[in-house]
Amino acid sequence: MSTEKSVPIDESHARWMNIDNGDGKPYGDGRTEKSNKPSSLEPENTSLLDGNIYDPTMLANIPWSQESQAKFKPGISPTSPGVGLVLRPLRIEDDQKGFLTLLAMLTSVGHVSAEDFRNQFEVMAMCPNSYYVTVIEDVEQGRVVGCATLIVEYKFIHSAGTRGRIEDVVVSDAYRGRQLGKLLLETLTLMGRHNVGCYKMSLECKDSLIKFYEQFGYEKDPGNNYLQQRFKV
Ligand SMILES: CC(C)(COP(=O)(O)OP(=O)(O)OC[C@H]1O[C@@H](n2cnc3c(N)ncnc32)[C@H](O)[C@@H]1OP(=O)(O)O)[C@@H](O)C(=O)NCCC(=O)NCCS
Repeated sequence: MSTEKSVPIDESHARWMNIDNGDGKPYGDGRTEKSNKPSSLEPENTSLLDGNIYDPTMLANIPWSQESQAKFKPGISPTSPGVGLVLRPLRIEDDQKGFLTLLAMLTSVGHVSAEDFRNQFEVMAMCPNSYYVTVIEDVEQGRVVGCATLIVEYKFIHSAGTRGRIEDVVVSDAYRGRQLGKLLLETLTLMGRHNVGCYKMSLECKDSLIKFYEQFGYEKDPGNNYLQQRFKV
């Protein structure tokens, strides 16, 4: 089992985090005051991953047959998700393949330009071992038809452990009921537990979906509550 706890801050990371580079001057990163985001991030980071948001070999190393909790009938897996389908990391061109349209079936997406998408993608790709945005593509159609994200948080507590959160789970209307939601959830849960080494994983959902998530081992945590506040941005 490989755990990926140690995350060195490389130079490009340091640059956009504005960390002192050793000569007493902070790196200039081209951020604008308005967005507080880098306007252009180093492309070598995403090219290292060949346009993927994380290393695709992660998906081949999931202990699927030994550890899968949900039942799949017929049997599918991360490497065999079904005829004409592929399960893979989000790619830098996936806004052209309906990724944002898919997310709009979950919640409000708002206006996201091609540049916004690319910037956000690169910010995530530059946080190593943190954003496992995973999609299912219908290869014949060239469309992204399902997605879910494992986000990994790095802690000082729990022996400098990592915890995982599942976010943004959605399967396109026309593809529902084909076990793709289950495939995404089981894949990311196993990845978080076994490949990343999370001590805890969690998600938020409506009452009607509790049963759906219980099949992967998630349980309600009595006495603990989910609190939130929203801001106009
Ligand atoms: C929830 C969702 C991702 C499930 O995807 P899917 O590919 O249709 O699900 P699967 O085919 O893998 O379904 C597997 C099982 O979950 C059950 N299930 C699916 N959607 C469900 C729902 N909305 N409520 C309760 N159970 C549900 C199915 O009945 C099925 O049960 P079975 O295995 O006992 O037959 C999909 O319905 C969806 O995208 N919904 C809209 C977005 C959303 O609500 N996302 C979750 C945010 S927390």
